[in-house]
Amino acid sequence: MNLPDLKKAKIRTSEKVNVIKDDYKIPDNIKNIGKGKKFYLKTYGCQMNVHDSENIKGMLNDLMYTETEEMDEADLILLNTCAIRENAHNKFFGFLGRVKHLKEYKPNIIVGVCGCMAQEENVCDILKKNPVVNLVFGTHNLHKLPQLLADAIKTNEQQIEVYSIEGNVYENVPVKRDSKYKAWVNIQFGCDKFCTYCIVPYTRGKQRSRMPEDIINEVKELVNEGYLEVTLLGQNVNAYGKDLDMNYTMANLLSDVAKTGIKRLRFVTSHPWDFSDEMIDTIAKYDNIMPYIHLPLQSGSNRILKLMGRRYTKEEYFELFTKLKERIPGCSITTDIIVAFPGETEEDFNDTLEMVNKCQYDSAFTFIYSPREGTPAAKMANPLTEDEKNERLYKLNELVNKYALENNLKYKGKKVQVLIEGVGEKNTLFGYTDTMKLVNVEGSEDYIGKIVDVIITDVKTWSLDGEIAKK
Ligand code: 5AD
Ligand code: SF4
Repeated sequence: MNLPDLKKAKIRTSEKVNVIKDDYKIPDNIKNIGKGKKFYLKTYGCQMNVHDSENIKGMLNDLMYTETEEMDEADLILLNTCAIRENAHNKFFGFLGRVKHLKEYKPNIIVGVCGCMAQEENVCDILKKNPVVNLVFGTHNLHKLPQLLADAIKTNEQQIEVYSIEGNVYENVPVKRDSKYKAWVNIQFGCDKFCTYCIVPYTRGKQRSRMPEDIINEVKELVNEGYLEVTLLGQNVNAYGKDLDMNYTMANLLSDVAKTGIKRLRFVTSHPWDFSDEMIDTIAKYDNIMPYIHLPLQSGSNRILKLMGRRYTKEEYFELFTKLKERIPGCSITTDIIVAFPGETEEDFNDTLEMVNKCQYDSAFTFIYSPREGTPAAKMANPLTEDEKNERLYKLNELVNKYALENNLKYKGKKVQVLIEGVGEKNTLFGYTDTMKLVNVEGSEDYIGKIVDVIITDVKTWSLDGEIAKK
């Protein structure tokens, strides 16, 4: 049994990245194990997990499983977990409780846990003792799912494979994409930044970039298949290529991918540290690179930024922010902010509010700091009460919402281009602008899968309403 070890996961070797193209195999004796069976897959967390789930679905398809939205009718239940904050943990354990009930009257169901929580030592220990769980596999072992699943079914013994093979990038893992119009494309795995609050460098391992030609070929195929939008995915995409020793940067990758002719190109997430001038020029130069940047601030206090290990000051961040706004006209910028980091004083918090006032973000994801076992910040004292933490979050959200609405108001009466993705909750069409604004649009379903001109008729804090522009 291979259990994860956070201390080992922290070690970064200088070993070169191995690109492995032939490790995904389905032996003949297991290729029908899903015939007539259904799987239910629940995904928590970030886009990286959402895309991992698309790979999982691709593999299960190869084993002849079909997907169901109803947990009750599944033969296989898989939970793709997130470890970023405590509430992600709680949600997962809550769900596992429901699965336990189901298994009481359907004991043959196979239950698997994967994703970031599987890579945590303490969680893995708990799962190991949990008779409900048949299968645990980590973010590094995704491609091993078919064999692990077959072994779990055959032996009736719990299968655990969560160790990390630091230097590897696995190509040729199948994928079943959720959308026919927009696709996620990994460009890099892991993270070497080690922000002091963050569990990701431990659960996802060291930074490994995919080879440029593998990424470009994937996007070319997507263009041929009729995809209109591609989002390049990584924890810290600006640092793309730094581990490859090829003198090939994120700016090079962006322009090469833009040249494939994909209609819309996006990328997440950017760390302010590695955002080069060449990258900004490239975004400005290509019309198909979307004018939208997610630029996590985390805190507006220099003292807290230092404690977080973020490697920039609020002044440097603002200089970059201003440059982006100047050189990429009409560009929208969103951010991530953490409140109540250990030792955050009222003054530190006010510095964060001040930065929000200066940057007037299009929107922001805001979080109360959540200690993650094994990270440096988890050992720092945090004297704030729960009420104080909540109060800070509330205050911050009020300010963020104010600017979100003000930014949206600028769209009223304007014509924008929207990639219509489908029918939303309100029975209207929905899609996103090039600046990543959600738009609800009245119109026929014939527009789904097309980029159309839309006139904005009304605006709200989190979305815009519009109608199809007359030609
Ligand atoms: N507590 C709260 N928020 C966190 N994030 C990452 N780790 C933590 C943590 N321990 C937030 C950061 C990051 C986003 C994805 O999640 O803001 O950018
Ligand atoms: Fe976590 Fe920082 Fe890496 Fe982002 S850059 S994944 S916050 S360690």
